[in-house]
Amino acid sequence: MLKEIIELHSLPVRILHWTQVFIIITLIICGFYIHYPGLLNIPFSTIKNIKGVFNFLLIINSSLYIYYSIISKHYLELIFSFRDIRFIPVFFKYIFFLKDEPGYYGKYNPGQKATYTFWFLLILVQIFTGLTLFYPETFGFFVKLLGGLNRIRITHYFATWLFVFTIPIHLYLAITEDPAKLQSIFTGYARR
Ligand code: HEM
Repeated sequence: MLKEIIELHSLPVRILHWTQVFIIITLIICGFYIHYPGLLNIPFSTIKNIKGVFNFLLIINSSLYIYYSIISKHYLELIFSFRDIRFIPVFFKYIFFLKDEPGYYGKYNPGQKATYTFWFLLILVQIFTGLTLFYPETFGFFVKLLGGLNRIRITHYFATWLFVFTIPIHLYLAITEDPAKLQSIFTGYARR
């Protein structure tokens, strides 16, 4: 039987997604190196410069991602809303193999939506705390409010671990959802 081929991820989404993956992985590696200097046999200043460039690439790519998500209304599929709460019990039964059918919940399941929403907030935290570390005088009020630069540095570091812990959740949910859908983040298309 011939299957219908549908476009699941537009070209801008695929480019923005893979650029974001590359930027965030680079920032995690460089960030951990800054926290634990000596982790790699590379001069500290080189890593700091690479991180400096990627910090601003993250701001640019995230802004483009947000802009595109708004104009294409893609954000409606990405962001977890109150309406998604009702799908959670069926979704949990499905991922723990207690149910064969995932139930209907739109393009992304509630777990994927929760991860994307959490990452969106986490990226804002990283950009905000990162800019404060860069320009402590400009963000002086914020530094005072949060109890000093060291606390901001610890928040930035802790948020990095939250990224590291949630990446496997994203991969698990993407891989177990549907192999046909999984290939579409590379090719854009899936067979239905
Ligand atoms: C996903 C995004 C990011 C990750 C995973 C990340 C990770 C990290 C980590 C782990 C550190 C080491 C913190 C420590 O000293 O314990 C760090 C340092 C730092 N980050 Fe980020 N970061 C991100 C985004 C940003 C952004 C967007 C900016 C600025 C616009 C930024 C600016 C800085 C600065 C200024 C430092 C301190 C570097 C130093 O001590 O010389 N970061 N980052």
